[in-house]
Amino acid sequence: MIKTQNLTKTYGKGEGKVTALAGVDITINDGEMVAIIGKSGSGKSTLLNLLGGLDKATEGKVFYNDTDLSTLNDTKLSEFRLKNIGFVFQFFDLIPELTAEENVMFPAKLAKKKGTAENDLYTALDIADRVKHYPSELSGGQQQRAAIARALINDPDVILCDEPTGNLDKASGEEVMSLLKKLNREQNKTVIIVTHDSEIAQQCGRVIEISDGQVVNA
Ligand SMILES: Nc1ncnc2c1ncn2[C@@H]1O[C@H](COP(=O)(O)OP(=O)(O)OP(=O)(O)O)[C@@H](O)[C@H]1O
Ligand SMILES: [Mg+2]
Repeated sequence: MIKTQNLTKTYGKGEGKVTALAGVDITINDGEMVAIIGKSGSGKSTLLNLLGGLDKATEGKVFYNDTDLSTLNDTKLSEFRLKNIGFVFQFFDLIPELTAEENVMFPAKLAKKKGTAENDLYTALDIADRVKHYPSELSGGQQQRAAIARALINDPDVILCDEPTGNLDKASGEEVMSLLKKLNREQNKTVIIVTHDSEIAQQCGRVIEISDGQVVNA
């Protein structure tokens, strides 16, 4: 279970102070598939980054079961992320100098463990014949599927996605969504998706709407 308490993020000070997130309390249960929606600038990415321990809250806490992320030092936090959370971003964020395969295996090397058999992942994600190529030699859909393979390589319980289909054509976007749904349904992964797209939100079990950094519907 993931739980936030009074989660708050402000940037800057004085006149220039921006409140990106203003006291968010949400609970997401294991195996849920949840969409986070809201207007541009409402705080969706801020919330996702805090949920993923990629950023530090100004106030408030994020718990994974009994683990309070704010009590972990940077090393412990990286370790926690590596083992428990997979990230998928809008712009894929593959390392351009590495082949698809090297990108996928990167977190596995860092974690020094083998979670999922990589060849099974390549087959399941339909990139087996492309993994020796560099990101620039892959289509957007293939890059995103490689990024999903990378997110899954350490077999995390939680997958956090920020506009995972935002840069894909309709067909590739639908493929990515059916993959995420399958992971949720068949492997009980907790999937949290930030999206602008109401069609994507509708495919999730629950929708959390934020406006001006606050939850207005959950
Ligand atoms: N590093 C930063 N410094 C200052 N303000 C920031 C910073 N990052 C985000 N913000 C501000 O915080 C607010 C929330 O930003 P956030 O990126 O979470 O929005 P979002 O809902 O993800 O928007 P979008 O749909 O456009 O991606 C915005 O007003 C944004 O300008
Ligand atoms: Mg965003």
